[in-house]
Amino acid sequence: MMNQDPSPTAPFARRVRSFVRRAGRLTPAQARALEILGPGRLVPGIGERLALDAVFGRVAPRVLEIGFGDGEALVAMARRLPDVDFLGLEVHEPGVGHLLLRLEAEGLTNVRLICHDAAEVIERRLPLGAFAAINIFFPDPWPKKRHHKRRLVQPPLIDTLARLHCTGGLLHLATDWVPYAEHMVEVLATSPDYRVLAPGEAAAEPLAWRPETKFERRGLKLGHEVRDLFYRKIQGPT
Ligand SMILES: C[S@@+](CC[C@H](N)C(=O)[O-])C[C@H]1O[C@@H](n2cnc3c(N)ncnc32)[C@H](O)[C@@H]1O
Repeated sequence: MMNQDPSPTAPFARRVRSFVRRAGRLTPAQARALEILGPGRLVPGIGERLALDAVFGRVAPRVLEIGFGDGEALVAMARRLPDVDFLGLEVHEPGVGHLLLRLEAEGLTNVRLICHDAAEVIERRLPLGAFAAINIFFPDPWPKKRHHKRRLVQPPLIDTLARLHCTGGLLHLATDWVPYAEHMVEVLATSPDYRVLAPGEAAAEPLAWRPETKFERRGLKLGHEVRDLFYRKIQGPT
């Protein structure tokens, strides 16, 4: 049921949700993956702030992806950058099961997943200053005006992400919905923690690469224009 507290001063975790539980049941293989492969790669969404060196079993640069869907981007990026650790947040269980199967099939050991509302996880569970890059690829656009408050990218979320980023960290947003891209630009323009990257600057960043995603392909088929936005974290953890 819809949370009725849209107050702009409410902490992000208590504001309206950015998702509705999508229809789509777990396949038997996905259910088995959650049960058998989950213990090595799934991290509970609730608890103390995580010690990521212990979660990944090593010290490495870390990338956070919020709303990974079926995890296509995570698999491709983790394969391309084996010396980087990737943490993915997603609420849709079939997507999590699907990704666990892919990670196992490809033998990728540098990915961990949390199946929980990202708004809560980023506020309470993730360590400050921990991420070299944070990615949000094709978040639900919520095109109707009365649903704009459900959009993931809002000032309170950006304030929280700024605390998780290390200084100089990269924030990469992508959308196929131009009005949402414009909204993102407006939100980031009010943030004291980020500066926009010029396209050439972003191209030189190994962590700025991403593959085409499932939702992107859907948008492109519909004739949508895709926009990628890059920002640099300019202050230390606050
Ligand atoms: C439009 S899909 C895009 C999926 C993927 N990034 C892609 O490009 O194919 C947005 C995803 O974000 C997830 N999502 C939305 N709000 C979320 C939240 N608060 N916490 C975790 N996942 C969320 C949805 O479940 C959905 O899978």
